[in-house]
Amino acid sequence: MSVSLTHYLSQNLDQDEIGKAVKDTVLSLCNSSKIIAQALSVNGLTDAQFGDQIGGLNADGDSQKALDVLADKAIIQEISNYPVAAYFSEEQDEALLLDKNGSLIVCVDPLDGSSNIDNNLSVGTIFSILPRQAELFEPDYLMADALQPGKNQLASGFFVYGPQTSLILTTGNGIAGFILSGDDFVQMEWQPSLQESSDQFAINMSNMRHWAPQARDYIQKCLDGLEGAFARNYNMRWCGSLVADAWRIFRQGGIFLYPEDNRQNYHAGRLRLIYEANPIAFLVEQAGGRASDGKTPILQIKPQAIHQRIPLIFGCRKDVLNYELHHSNKP
Ligand code: F6P
Ligand code: MN
Repeated sequence: MSVSLTHYLSQNLDQDEIGKAVKDTVLSLCNSSKIIAQALSVNGLTDAQFGDQIGGLNADGDSQKALDVLADKAIIQEISNYPVAAYFSEEQDEALLLDKNGSLIVCVDPLDGSSNIDNNLSVGTIFSILPRQAELFEPDYLMADALQPGKNQLASGFFVYGPQTSLILTTGNGIAGFILSGDDFVQMEWQPSLQESSDQFAINMSNMRHWAPQARDYIQKCLDGLEGAFARNYNMRWCGSLVADAWRIFRQGGIFLYPEDNRQNYHAGRLRLIYEANPIAFLVEQAGGRASDGKTPILQIKPQAIHQRIPLIFGCRKDVLNYELHHSNKP
């Protein structure tokens, strides 16, 4: 018998008021995911708009597409009915204040991997739910709440809009995978997990010349295969969509790397701490893996700004530890 997401959430979260608020908020995000999946699958926009860049750049300097904006709006519309005090999004410059009595802070990457939309490849929505700490319902105070270290998260997860619409979720009690079946998300029999080590890596190799020598050294050893220092033949995958790479790593194992590099604007990597690294790191740790910036576990890092970028290395525990060892070597 398949377990519905609602049942799973009730079992894990119905113990107290804050848990119930998290449950309602996750379910509201599920509602928006259905709207987004539908828009993507039937080309909810006109041909001319599908995947089109609109306006300029978002707060992170990425080009904003019509579907990024559609996803952002779909989420705001749904979570506005629930106890969310403030919403932070990669597509918004500032905090969006919602419910003055809300107990939660929600941080979202509404459409991750959106450069893949035109190519009919998987994209997704990543979310992080934090407790509200500020008593005052004012932007500066709620902004400070969004800058809590990732270890404070109450729940995180990501939807993947691929051949199936799916969700990987943690509420701090292990992780679980769900699939949209008809109108409901139901738990998959498959249990996402991360083994100790693996023989698969994910990195954008075209940036190799820009990396620090330590990162080059680590990847070179992967490329050297059985005869090299790691004595292992590696496979490489790079989807260009964090959610799709993360899903595969929960399924098959591996290490994902988006390190800092020498290009302008990449000195702290590419990915965002509060919208991408924190929620993925919470899932990874709950699955027995490790996520760091090459030195420090992501969940321990205190964010300094809502759109802050961070180098992100995650996956099988021993592989990430090995990368950190290389990272600490003097060039
Ligand atoms: O959101 C940023 C993102 O699209 C991720 O989904 C993906 O992992 C990464 O950027 C890809 O970056 P690049 O195009 O530099 O390989
Ligand atoms: Mn993204």
